[in-house]
Amino acid sequence: MTAVLTTPSGASHGQYVFGTMQFGGRADATASREMFEACRTAGLRHFDTAWLYTDGQSETLLGEMIASCREDILLATKVGYSGGAGPANLDAQFETSRQRLNQDSVDLLYLHQFDPDTDLRATLGWFAEQKLKNRIRYVGLSNFAAWQVVKAAWAASELDLKIDVLQPMYSLVKRQAEVEILPMCKDLDITPIPYSPLGGGLLTGKYAKGESGRLTEDKRYAARYGQSWMYDCAKNLTKVAEREGVNPATLAVAWAAAHESNPTPILSARSEEQLRPSLKAAHYALTPALYEELAALSPRPAPATDRLEETTE
Ligand SMILES: NC(=O)c1ccc[n+]([C@@H]2O[C@H](COP(=O)([O-])OP(=O)(O)OC[C@H]3O[C@@H](n4cnc5c(N)ncnc54)[C@H](OP(=O)(O)O)[C@@H]3O)[C@@H](O)[C@H]2O)c1
Repeated sequence: MTAVLTTPSGASHGQYVFGTMQFGGRADATASREMFEACRTAGLRHFDTAWLYTDGQSETLLGEMIASCREDILLATKVGYSGGAGPANLDAQFETSRQRLNQDSVDLLYLHQFDPDTDLRATLGWFAEQKLKNRIRYVGLSNFAAWQVVKAAWAASELDLKIDVLQPMYSLVKRQAEVEILPMCKDLDITPIPYSPLGGGLLTGKYAKGESGRLTEDKRYAARYGQSWMYDCAKNLTKVAEREGVNPATLAVAWAAAHESNPTPILSARSEEQLRPSLKAAHYALTPALYEELAALSPRPAPATDRLEETTE
């Protein structure tokens, strides 16, 4: 059982997180505010942003929204996607993030990606310092391989520091995390907070209907979700959803949350209308049989130790 993350007022951070990567980008200030309000009404408390997002607009807008309810919010941001994981860069980016958010501290700070050129001990020493200064409560890593997390966890333990959270990609069409990352989180008491449960929108089924969106607008996402089996998976998910009388997005989000490691997926959208089916996942009871049926819609990744002929599943 992993430790439960809490808001400053002591409430559990909840079952789902809302990600503000679209704030100030595809979602203007009004649409962003509407999504924030819908999340609060639905009981969400954990909000995720990053130094990187929308030239700082995401942090600035989120900072304004949480001003009146800060104690009830678990506020997470990320540094170090660009410029490396050295203390000087992290210091400069975190200072900017805190200014944009109008906060002395955040609850959870992530290193946004692994930096092979910086000694992890220097990076984690900087995180330990932020904790001592009461500028962060939880330490997170994102986009790390399992061996990199374990290496970080060892280095952190020498500083009396814990890696609290890992933010990997995870959805029905991106299942690599099942092999090592999610079992590792369970074993090391790290809370998995996966992103892109809808595969960037693919699993809403809209591309099969000829609609446009991030996958037709953004080359990086087109490449990330470019394989034909992924589109087949989305089509088949839509068929199951129609049979069950539920939106495919609700099923995709509920599926990503139902892994035995107890992940807390990060939801997102560009409008309140888009967000609605994802929020409905909080009240959708996915049966074990339906979970398995959905899991069979995409290839299960190979096990970490390559003795495929001996796996019983
Ligand atoms: N750590 C990292 O490196 C990292 C990377 C990515 C994301 N994240 C975090 O995770 C959060 C979620 O990631 P994500 O945005 O990739 O999640 P996602 O749930 O996979 O994709 C969300 C996108 O799907 C589309 N969509 C959602 N609901 C829809 C609906 N009902 N109908 C049609 N389209 C719909 C929208 O895109 P369009 O309308 O544009 O198609 C929306 O922006 C981000 O906000 C961010 O906080 C972290």
